[in-house]
Amino acid sequence: MSDAVRVGVVGLGYWGPNLARNFDRLPEAELAWICDGSDDQRERFAREFPDARATADLDDLLGDEDLDAVIVATPVPTHADLAVRVLEAGKACFVEKPLALSLEDAERVVAAAEKADRTLMVGHLLEYHPGLVRLGELASSGELGDIHYIYGNRLNLGKLRTNENALWSLGAHDISVVMSLAGEDPEDMRAVGESYMNPGVEDVVFAYLRFPSGLAAHLHLSWLDPHKERRFTVVGSKRMATFDDMAAENKLTIYDKGFDQDFRSYGEYIARSGDVMSPAVSNEEPLRIECRHFVECVRDGTEPRSGAASGLRVVRALETLQRSLDESARARAV
Ligand SMILES: NC(=O)c1ccc[n+]([C@@H]2O[C@H](COP(=O)([O-])OP(=O)(O)OC[C@H]3O[C@@H](n4cnc5c(N)ncnc54)[C@H](O)[C@@H]3O)[C@@H](O)[C@H]2O)c1
Repeated sequence: MSDAVRVGVVGLGYWGPNLARNFDRLPEAELAWICDGSDDQRERFAREFPDARATADLDDLLGDEDLDAVIVATPVPTHADLAVRVLEAGKACFVEKPLALSLEDAERVVAAAEKADRTLMVGHLLEYHPGLVRLGELASSGELGDIHYIYGNRLNLGKLRTNENALWSLGAHDISVVMSLAGEDPEDMRAVGESYMNPGVEDVVFAYLRFPSGLAAHLHLSWLDPHKERRFTVVGSKRMATFDDMAAENKLTIYDKGFDQDFRSYGEYIARSGDVMSPAVSNEEPLRIECRHFVECVRDGTEPRSGAASGLRVVRALETLQRSLDESARARAV
């Protein structure tokens, strides 16, 4: 165990225990600390992770000279301040998504990572999903042709949050995927949404992103929906593809569908509906892959796939979409 990367997890609410479990099980890592301000959460998970030391105070982790990295899985408004403290203490830092609630805060974290020369990774989990990695390979290889448009549905009767809306909570995932499939940053972003459960906290958001190449994307994000959907549809000039994370198998499907020009006529298009196929993709848990990637980056000093640049791009897009959301709400109120 001597060359294992020693990590501590801060925040043992809904998501943090999943991270703790994965780091605990990775042979390349040692879960050395768990930390939560709540006595109940700490006591509950101290029983589940008896080899890790438990504390309410992040300073205990930061003062442990043998600790290599800290995982921040606390509510989003706390991310930036906690991550800066971790990095300034000379530890590598994994921050859950989104990196921060404003671009200014996200830049503060990135500057701290650069100054300390420590690894910073953001939990853009879907960038590690084998099905979406495969979809990205298909898109960049040209197999789908030019990508015309993408739409994503992230719907659920899910966790009702009050300190971030559906855009920041759910959209961070989809924006990271859409931007990596597009291979460029959006130039035009708009969003509308509605708050039904808590005033000023949008439960449902419809976002539109347009990229310089002409690629368009639409996201439907909601934690107030009867369906549980986690789906992307990619419409290319040659082929189309869907990724359905709720499917037990065959999560990725490629459709040889589209319009071909009929050269016997005067430029008319005829619909082509050919083969449908589902490439095999690994069913390894994406969270395990993500945690292992972080440990390898810390150990080898390599830049994470969802490192500072990815974290900043996603927060920049979220901030622009939030401005649009606010403007559309103000326009309605006039
Ligand atoms: N990757 C994913 O799919 C995914 C899914 C869910 C949540 N998340 C992310 O995980 C993070 C946590 O979300 P959650 O739903 O688990 O939140 P939560 O509110 O359920 O849990 C947060 C925990 O952090 C603790 N905490 C807060 N401030 C603290 C501090 N300063 N020191 C120690 N403990 C502190 C709280 O006591 C609480 O137990 C968020 O960033 C969220 O976006 C990611």
